[in-house]
Amino acid sequence: MAHELIPGLEGIPIAESKVSFVDGQKGRLEYRGISVEDLAENSTFEETAFLLMYGHLPSQGEFEEFNEEFQRVFRLKYQIVDLMKHLPETGHPMDALQAGVAAIGMFYQPRSNLTEAQRRLACTRILAKTPCLVAAFQRLRHGEEWPLPLKHLGLAANFLYMMTDKEPDPEAARVLDVCLILHADHTMNASTFAGRVVGSTLADPYCVVSSALGALSGPLHGGANEDAMRLFEAIGTPENARPYIEDMIKNKKKIPGFGHRVYKTIDPRAKILKKHAETLAKKSGNPIYQIAVEAEKVVTEHYAAKGIWPNVDFFSGIVYSELGIPRDCFTPIFAIARVAGWLGHLLEQLEGNRIFRPTQIYTGQHDQPYVSMNER
Ligand code: ACO
Repeated sequence: MAHELIPGLEGIPIAESKVSFVDGQKGRLEYRGISVEDLAENSTFEETAFLLMYGHLPSQGEFEEFNEEFQRVFRLKYQIVDLMKHLPETGHPMDALQAGVAAIGMFYQPRSNLTEAQRRLACTRILAKTPCLVAAFQRLRHGEEWPLPLKHLGLAANFLYMMTDKEPDPEAARVLDVCLILHADHTMNASTFAGRVVGSTLADPYCVVSSALGALSGPLHGGANEDAMRLFEAIGTPENARPYIEDMIKNKKKIPGFGHRVYKTIDPRAKILKKHAETLAKKSGNPIYQIAVEAEKVVTEHYAAKGIWPNVDFFSGIVYSELGIPRDCFTPIFAIARVAGWLGHLLEQLEGNRIFRPTQIYTGQHDQPYVSMNER
C-alpha cells in the first residue's frame, strides 16, 4: 500500500488503456495506434469517433449503419430546446451543455444495467446531440431561431450551419472537422479520469459525459483556449507582444495555452492548428495570428528549456474565431470532440470494471471532544 502523496497523481497509472497514446518527449499522439497527423489528413470526425469508441476503423457497412443511427438521433426534443431557451443568456455555454446532456439522459430508460445495444445507442445519441445543444443555446440566447441539422451535412458542417444559419464553405467545414479530430482524445487527462470514475459506479453515459464536461470547463484544462484568445486581445498588436509577455513572465503569471503535464516539447496538435490559424488569418487579414506568433516566440525563448511549449489551446481559438465562432463557444467545441474519447474510455472502463475507491492520507486530529455551542 502506497503512503506517499503524489500531487495531481503525476505519473500514477489509473487504468490500462488502448484508446490513445502520447509520447510527451517526441510530441506524438496516436488514437488506437494511428497518429493524429494521419487521421487529420485522411479521416473524418465521425470515423475517428467510431475508431475511439469501438477500437477499429469502421468497414463501409459499419460506417453506414453508424451514420444512419447518427442521423436518426441528431435532433433535440422540444423540451430540451425549451430548456436551452430558459437558461440564462449570460451563462456559459459549457454549463448549458452540461445541463443539456444530463437532461437528455432523463428521457431514456433504463438508467443503469444498460444492454450493449442500449449503451451503444446512448453513445451515438450523446455524440450527435452535443453539437446541437451548443448551437441551440448559442442561437436561442440571442433570441434567434435554431435551425434543425441538415441530413446531407456531416457533424462539423452541421455545427457551423446551426451556429450561423448558412451552409458553410466546405473548406471551413473541413478545418473544423480536423479540429474535432485533433481534440477527440488525449489519454488520462482530468476530464477523462472524471468520466472513468463516474463510469466505474455504473452511472449511465449521460452522467459520465456531464461529469467530464464539468472537469473540462476549468481554465487549467479546456478553458485555456478562451484565456489564450483574451491574452492576444489584451496584447493588441504584434509589437506589444514582447513587453507584455516579458511582464507576465517577470510577474510569474502563467501563459494560457502553454505547458503540459505530459508534453515536454511542442504539442503535435498545436503544430497542425498553427498552420490552419495562419492560413485563415492571412485570408481574412486578421493581425491576431501575428500577435500569437510573436507571443509564442517570447514564451519559448524563456521557457522551452524548461519543457514549456504551446499546447492544443494556444492556436485553436484563432481558428475558431476565424470560423465565426464566439469565444465562449471554444471550449464547447473541444467538448463536442472529446465526447468521442470519453465514451471510448467509458466502454473500456466497463470491460472488467471495478469501482474507483482511492485512499487518502489523513492529516486531521483524533479523539476530539464535542464542545457545546455556548462553550466555543
Ligand atoms: N506559463 C508559465 N509557466 C508555466 C506554465 C505556463 N503556461 N505552465 C507551467 N509553468 C511552470 C510552472 O509555473 C511551474 O514552474 P516552477 O516549477 O518554477 O514552479 C512548472 O512550469 C510546472 O508547472 P505546473 O503547473 O506544476 O505543471 P502541471 O503539470 O501541474 O500543469 C498545466 C500543467 C496545468 C497545463 C500548466 O502548464 C498550466 O497551467 N498551463 C496554462 C493553462 C493551459 O494552457 N492549460 C491547457 C492544458 S492542455 C489541456 O488541458 C487541453
